[in-house]
Amino acid sequence: MLQVRDVAVAFNGAPVLTGVDLDVATGEICCLTGPSGSGKSTLLRVIAGLHTADRGSVVVDGQDVTALPPHRRGIGLVFQDHGLFPHLDVSGNVGFALRTRGVTSRQRTARVEELLGLVGLAGFGSRRVSTLSGGEQQRVALARALAGTPRVLLLDEPLGALDPAIHDRLAEDLRTLLRDAGTTAVHVTHDEHEAALVGDRSVDIRHLNPGTPASPVRH
Ligand SMILES: Nc1ncnc2c1ncn2[C@@H]1O[C@H](COP(=O)(O)OP(=O)(O)O)[C@@H](O)[C@H]1O
Ligand SMILES: [Mg+2]
Repeated sequence: MLQVRDVAVAFNGAPVLTGVDLDVATGEICCLTGPSGSGKSTLLRVIAGLHTADRGSVVVDGQDVTALPPHRRGIGLVFQDHGLFPHLDVSGNVGFALRTRGVTSRQRTARVEELLGLVGLAGFGSRRVSTLSGGEQQRVALARALAGTPRVLLLDEPLGALDPAIHDRLAEDLRTLLRDAGTTAVHVTHDEHEAALVGDRSVDIRHLNPGTPASPVRH
């Protein structure tokens, strides 16, 4: 499970997070909503270890990870801009984390096949990522994030760039997939409809953020 305690972040003196507490139970999919500029990505970055908070702590499965670097937290990340490696094929992308951990080639192939099956891309292993649709690329990013069997998966608006026509189906698929994998997840979206499709529970970050005048920023 994930426990966020009293996390505060200010940028140039402007408070963005003012003492956020958030608990996500093991296997629970928690959706974090709120308008643009309300601090959703900042909170995910603090949980992942990509930004150091001014105060507060992050605990994963009972272990305080606040002082650990990102790669030692057991946390997986999926972004809207999925950051796939264009020079690698689908298998290379999904197996990347396994290769850096010294998993043998045979074990890696088996695990990559299993993950591609999970995200509905069985047989896509040798395709170049540039030949995939946006939805397919997002599934590859998800498989890659799940490859390291993270204790917590963080998803930052992963469906945001998708064609509205396929958005709802992918949101439902994502929910099924996270459920089947038993993943503990924090899924960020500014879309409450998406939050209802994906999450077990939905929280507005403004309710976690006492005392901030939630001032939406236009991008
Ligand atoms: N590295 C940074 N330096 C300065 N300001 C930042 C930085 N990252 C985020 N902010 C500001 O913090 C606020 C929250 O941003 P963000 O967490 O990205 O919001 P959201 O993901 O909810 O849209 C915004 O006002 C944004 O401009
Ligand atoms: Mg954001």
